[in-house]
Amino acid sequence: TWTMVNIVDETVAAIREKVGSGRLVCGLSGGVDSAVAAALVQRAVGDQLTCVFVDHGLLRKGEAEQVERDFVAATGVSLKVVDAQKRFLDALAGVTDPEEKRKIIGREFIRVFEQAAREVVADAGAHGETVEFLVQGTLYPDVVESGGGEGAANIKSHHNVGGLPDDLQFQLVEPLRALFKDEVRRVGEELGLPAEIVWRQPFPGPGLGIRIIGEVTAERLDILREADAIAREELTLAGLDRDIWQCPVVLLADVRSVGVQGDGRTYGHPVVLRPVSSEDAMTADWSRLPYDVLARISTRITNEVREINRVVLDVTSKPPGTIEWE
Ligand code: XMP
Repeated sequence: TWTMVNIVDETVAAIREKVGSGRLVCGLSGGVDSAVAAALVQRAVGDQLTCVFVDHGLLRKGEAEQVERDFVAATGVSLKVVDAQKRFLDALAGVTDPEEKRKIIGREFIRVFEQAAREVVADAGAHGETVEFLVQGTLYPDVVESGGGEGAANIKSHHNVGGLPDDLQFQLVEPLRALFKDEVRRVGEELGLPAEIVWRQPFPGPGLGIRIIGEVTAERLDILREADAIAREELTLAGLDRDIWQCPVVLLADVRSVGVQGDGRTYGHPVVLRPVSSEDAMTADWSRLPYDVLARISTRITNEVREINRVVLDVTSKPPGTIEWE
């Protein structure tokens, strides 16, 4: 629509005005906001931008590839990928407390991002250039929540890089500061980003790390990734993506129950389906998904993921239940 074209044109002009010939760095999280922010900046100033993607190994199936391949193909952005999966797993070893997990993931993220940003700065320096700007996908609701001050957006998630050291300070460029989520998605479409990125469900910064109840291990992540991919695929096939807000799939990794799978008794883990409808995630109701969709998800997960022998449905609204289990 013409309004979206307007928003894109005006934002692109404002970015050019602000950054001039300066260089920028942007952390991509795999989420919609950072992707659209980066795509706007790329549209405005092209290869003055370098994106950094920290692969912490806690993303869902296919998401790292979407950033590394599809996003790059759609935007032509120059991307630096840091494979930090082992580092995050090591840091999370033995940890079961949800807030402890969040703290560790946030801390490691900042450290890895800092190192990558330093390399981008050094690289630019070698060409006689300076990196002056950090791009962030701050939205209007985040601005309001944090009191609205310029650069005050250090609210909830670890992709908000508020913790960089003094010798590595940038001016913030926040091209989505005036936009709501639905507008961000439309801008993303206008910029030609793939639907899988633009219409991605909200996904917490700490990722699957807070959807494994118990210790996070590589094996558990693989199990949850498979189950989650099946649930997402069936919801998409049923045309339900835009009806639900999000549908966490939660692995109860320390719980086992008896089942019969194939011709034998099993002693496997349950997963919980947590489909919710919501306007803003502050409150939510559990989604009344069609029984046949639930049945297909359950049948496929228990058939295709050997370690899972039971699928249960969370029918709690928020409040009292939060959307995530941790
Ligand atoms: P809760 O579980 O609090 O979740 O009802 C509300 C919304 O926030 C997301 N969420 C997070 N996002 N870092 C994030 O970036 C986090 O630590 C985090 N915890 C929850 C959740 O997915 C839901 O959309």
